Amino acid sequence: MSSPLSTPATPAAPVELDDIQGLIRFGYKRHTQACFLLLRVKDREAARVWLAAVAPVTSAATIEPPPQTALQVALSSEGLRALGVPSDIVEGFAAEFVSGMSSDASRARRLGDVGANEPGRWQWGAGQRVPHVLVLLYALPGCLEGWQRSIEAQCNAGFETLACLPSTDMHGLEPFGFVDGISQPKLDWERQRPARDAQQLAYSNLSCLGEFLLGYANEYGGYTDRPLLDPRRDVQALLPRAEDAPDRADLGRNGSYLVMRQLRQDVHGFWQFVDRQAGGNPGLREQLAAAMVGRSLHGAPLFGPANETFPGGGTPAELNAFTYRTDPQGLRCPMGAHVRRTNPRNADLPPGDAGIVSWAKRTLGFDAPALDQDLVASTRFHRLLRRGREYGAAVPLAQALAGPSAGADPGLHFICLGANIARQFEFVQDAWVMATRFDGLRNESDPLLGTRLPAPDGTRTDDFSMPQPEGPDQRLGGLPQFVTVLGGAYFFLPGIRALRYLATAH
Ligand code: HEM
Repeated sequence: MSSPLSTPATPAAPVELDDIQGLIRFGYKRHTQACFLLLRVKDREAARVWLAAVAPVTSAATIEPPPQTALQVALSSEGLRALGVPSDIVEGFAAEFVSGMSSDASRARRLGDVGANEPGRWQWGAGQRVPHVLVLLYALPGCLEGWQRSIEAQCNAGFETLACLPSTDMHGLEPFGFVDGISQPKLDWERQRPARDAQQLAYSNLSCLGEFLLGYANEYGGYTDRPLLDPRRDVQALLPRAEDAPDRADLGRNGSYLVMRQLRQDVHGFWQFVDRQAGGNPGLREQLAAAMVGRSLHGAPLFGPANETFPGGGTPAELNAFTYRTDPQGLRCPMGAHVRRTNPRNADLPPGDAGIVSWAKRTLGFDAPALDQDLVASTRFHRLLRRGREYGAAVPLAQALAGPSAGADPGLHFICLGANIARQFEFVQDAWVMATRFDGLRNESDPLLGTRLPAPDGTRTDDFSMPQPEGPDQRLGGLPQFVTVLGGAYFFLPGIRALRYLATAH
């Protein structure tokens, strides 16, 4: 999905922070109140008028003190069509965005949207319930309610509301009770990291901007495909010129793709399962749960800087300063743990000695363990910028252990950003999260997210294995499904000028 390597006309032009939606840079952590409006166009002209003038979309430029409220807008491909954006422009976006998350059985199978996760059962995101526009509202404590009402009133003329998804501030924990939002890629806002396609040997957290923003060079040193227009189609000269094609107007520049999935979490089921496996022993219960996640409840990594270094937390940088090189067999953090699957932290070259012989063996593929690792190489091409928010009522551990769920389960509005949905979200979800063969593992998928349905060849997927220093792996069998998909869609989070363009394009 990348154009061939090309030399940008202006190699390190400054980033236009005031044209980028703020969510990409900030995540709005201090804005602990959030709500997501899923809208469908009912009156095209009114919808376009509102989008063209939408109460200021908050940009990525630094504002001190932070604004009380921040509004972000994203559009699905169905939404672009409903707004009257010409087909050839819509088709210029990435194929998976154009098709949509719930569009076909093959994608559903790859994403694990089968069984209880099937799009046909979703509350939103399939058929007539695919949202056209997603409005994300973030507010400082106490500032959401009245503002949300006024935005909803403004939207009334052009849109019908498919859903208004509230969120809950769980103080940095996700509903199972683990600290979330610790590991994130760091974007190279200064554009100092050379875009390179050569082998990069060390795991790094710094990502080229083009991994998360269209119109900038990515980790391959290329530019991800996006609609590049004849400037005559941009009569108001809203759009910037493309860095890699200066005679074209770049509709993608400063935009990103946004993946949203509503994930219901069976907190009772999770803790009761782990408790049974631990024979009711609280210490062991916490240890098993941490092995499944790959971090302690407090967010400490399970190795590297020893676990006890961070008894009650640590800065995100400290909690992230590790790779799995010191734990090649998964003795401390199991290979199949959620965080190890979703970011195996390997660079291009599989791990091994620094010597030239080892390097040659690994490069040429003569090293069996190295081959096994091949599937998880090059993690820098598969990073996700996570921006999810929790929803529903938190379930205390004692209550989770006490009995069945009393009503609506809480969950996660999983949101991630990336310039390439196929190579980032879909790859991670398919090849790492749902894969029954991952890093030498068999009969298992992600311990938090797996559907536990048999693979197409009939093999079981409901194990979770924890390698031991001696003897066979310790295995948990018969894992139930803990997380169910209730909805989802792919969106384009445009640059602010591109949003105005899309609202006026014919
Ligand atoms: C309800 C569902 C989920 C729960 C409860 C959950 C929970 C967690 C927790 C507790 C962490 C560790 C804290 C951190 O590093 O931020 C984590 C990390 C992570 N999760 Fe999830 N997660 C869920 C869904 C997903 C999905 C659907 C994906 C992607 C397909 C995903 C991708 C990641 C990634 C990339 C990391 C960071 C790994 C690293 O860099 O070390 N998660 N998640």
